[in-house]
Amino acid sequence: MIGVLVSGEGTNLQALLDAGLPVVAVASNRFAAPALTRASCATAAFELTDFPDRAARDAAMADWLEQQGVRLVVLAGYMHLLTPAFLDRFPDAVVNVHPSLLPEFPGAHAVEEQLAAGVGESGATVHLVDEGVDSGAVLAQERVPVLAGDTAETLHERIKSVEHRLLPEVVRELCAR
Ligand code: GRF
Repeated sequence: MIGVLVSGEGTNLQALLDAGLPVVAVASNRFAAPALTRASCATAAFELTDFPDRAARDAAMADWLEQQGVRLVVLAGYMHLLTPAFLDRFPDAVVNVHPSLLPEFPGAHAVEEQLAAGVGESGATVHLVDEGVDSGAVLAQERVPVLAGDTAETLHERIKSVEHRLLPEVVRELCAR
């Protein structure tokens, strides 16, 4: 049973839903995340300002996911780092999707930074999540060309179309374990 964490648009969440994967819970750090409206399963928002600190927020989010029966957590555009208060509850069972060929270009501005660096090739990576910024073990990676005239939007869309295939593939394999 899968729990998905989102902060934004949720197109990767949509890809998981469209693939028929058993998503039972969707949580966000933002009440207003458009992604929350995509799922027909249980949803909840855990805003940092409603908790004394990040560890308390993460513990509450982990409690809620456990109550929904979640065994595997997928970060699909979730923009906060997770603390041990969360990660220790789902050992080796939290994965993320990132728009670069990690370990190159971690962080929240990976697409813009790749364009600024003039790379000829970008990619999509699915990796295990640890406390660092996009630093956990890589599970799957696929290259994506950077084309002349690309903007951050056009390149990100090309990467996302690969993410939408790669993430469900990896998640399906992890569910079968
Ligand atoms: C994706 O590019 C993902 O790699 C990154 O954030 C973006 C999320 O997009 N971590 P969406 O919310 O799934 O549309």
